Amino acid sequence: MSTPEKLYEGKAKIIYPTDDPEILLAYFKDDATAFNAQKRGTIQGKGEINNAISSHLFQELEAKGIPTHYIDSPTPNEMRVKRVKIVPIEVIVRNIAAGSLSKQTGIPVGTIIEPTLVEFCYKNDELGDPLLTRERLFLMKLATPEQLEQITQLSLQINQILSEFFNECGITLVDFKLEFGITSEGKLVLADEISPDTCRLWDQSETDPNRRVLDKDRFRRDLGNIESAYQQVLKRVLEHTSNPSE
Ligand code: TMP
Repeated sequence: MSTPEKLYEGKAKIIYPTDDPEILLAYFKDDATAFNAQKRGTIQGKGEINNAISSHLFQELEAKGIPTHYIDSPTPNEMRVKRVKIVPIEVIVRNIAAGSLSKQTGIPVGTIIEPTLVEFCYKNDELGDPLLTRERLFLMKLATPEQLEQITQLSLQINQILSEFFNECGITLVDFKLEFGITSEGKLVLADEISPDTCRLWDQSETDPNRRVLDKDRFRRDLGNIESAYQQVLKRVLEHTSNPSE
């Protein structure tokens, strides 16, 4: 069978149609970008690792009642997902100050953020994914107030589940980015991926601020050992067994 025409190619994934109009195939690439693609590179094996981590986390979330686009993972680099219309908002959830929050506010990296901060950026590469106010978000009609409330509540629930999950893996979930989509039936579901590309993950067994980094900050900040950090996350995620009574 020949490979079908791609529907869309993003920085980290290619989306293909399937025989079923309600199902898409996401191919996870090894390509890595940062700073709105001003920095480009390859992380060997990243596609397979991120697909495996994302698949595992989506299943974990589904088991705890979070609706996601995940169907299954037919090959190491591919994930079958429900076709959704992506809401053009990047939801950033922050438990600990880092990255752009520290840069833009002066809050020192590592400061605990309480209560958890949920922020919204406009998903638009040309504009550099700018931070939005709620007023701008509604002005641009990116979501209805009801959708935004649902997105916020789901994001906080996802944060609770993932923070606990990673904590049991000896990893602190510092912050992460989520995207949501709307199915053909009008249901809001978690979409995209959850991986070391889209989360900040700190190894709890390391105190050194550079050595503890297990995520794409190793690529962004040229910290080296990127592949082994991603593999370390995968290993711990796969070793984690959920308590069936939870
Ligand atoms: P930031 O501190 O750079 O705003 O990033 C917050 C979180 O969002 C961090 O875990 C990395 C993730 N992220 C993405 O997944 N995609 C992006 O384009 C950006 C800027 C951040």
